[in-house]
Amino acid sequence: TTCVKELFTHIIDEERHTSVKVTVVGTGQVGMASAFAMLTQGVISELALVDMVADKLKGEMLDLQHGQAFLRTVKVQASTDYSVTAGSKICVVTAGARQNLGETRLQLVQKNVAIFKHIIPNLIKYSPNCILIIVSNPVDILTYVAWKISGLPRNQVIGSGTMLDSSRFRFILSERIGIAPKSVHGYIIGEHGDSSVAVWSSVNIAGTRLKDIHPHTGDPDDPENWNEIHKEVVNSAYEIIKLKGYTSWAIGVMISTLCNAILKNQKVIYSLSTLAKGYHGIEEEVFLSLPCVVGEKGVGAVFDQKLLPNEMEKVKASAKTLHDVIKSLEL
Ligand code: NAD
Ligand code: LAC
Repeated sequence: TTCVKELFTHIIDEERHTSVKVTVVGTGQVGMASAFAMLTQGVISELALVDMVADKLKGEMLDLQHGQAFLRTVKVQASTDYSVTAGSKICVVTAGARQNLGETRLQLVQKNVAIFKHIIPNLIKYSPNCILIIVSNPVDILTYVAWKISGLPRNQVIGSGTMLDSSRFRFILSERIGIAPKSVHGYIIGEHGDSSVAVWSSVNIAGTRLKDIHPHTGDPDDPENWNEIHKEVVNSAYEIIKLKGYTSWAIGVMISTLCNAILKNQKVIYSLSTLAKGYHGIEEEVFLSLPCVVGEKGVGAVFDQKLLPNEMEKVKASAKTLHDVIKSLEL
């Protein structure tokens, strides 16, 4: 308008050329918790939201935009049309069905594979060199599916995997020990879900391994029952779903942290779902979580974690469980 024109004399073209753009597909509980965390943590400069439900999309977009006066400015757009996602550095996929009470993650597979056949080609059309972060469940299977459909190199297709399980593990351990979760180091690897593997051999505090102090840590016959903590981790999602219907906040801050590590090339190690063939004797072409070095190219390297023979057997069993599901897929 005339008045606005009179306020400034423009000396450069204001088009954004170096925006840090992330797309979130699926504006449900997980998608919006992830988007909100990215806005509040200052991770991005542009956000594109995509869903099938146009009214919900517009409502979420407006609601986020109205908080902008209190945050670093981010251009927020939303549409059912994938052209809104063009030029994204990262596309986070949280769309699809979630578990009903008592349902396992693996039971969601057919519904969500069908959805991915639509979503993934559309994302690649508009951001051909993006990094895909898959969150929808069953996440390890759908990360494999996204890798196959997208044609992207393996480093650019990442499943959120057991980064969340590892965070739950560290939290519950920290409560038992009485220190901050950040000061308890430990990894859950394998399937995000029921066949996940707690790597008890490397759980440590300030470099001292719990197993060196108490050799039975994590064993089934451990008189101190540390392994109950892993059972609690596996049961976490079922418990939260029973209590509130879905999980959202922990996965939201986790996705924001992961995007930040990629966008700022941080080379942090997280447990993430990656192509696991060739590691720990895994022969199947499956995605499951292993400690990954995360930087601007996605998963730049997989950390060669030393496992005890029984831990390796459990990871192989996790791979087999996932491969049995993959074999039944029609892609
Ligand atoms: P939700 O039902 O709240 O949201 C799902 C959204 O996906 C809805 O808004 C729906 O409209 C949208 N959607 C469905 N089909 C679509 C399509 N074809 N295109 C675009 N959008 C579409 O569910 P939620 O609680 O946000 O969970 C989402 C997914 O994330 C579930 O599969 C859930 O199991 C999974 N999840 C994974 C983790 C993890 O750690 N990997 C954690 C929590 C939830
Ligand atoms: C989780 C989801 C449900 O919170 O996978 O673990």
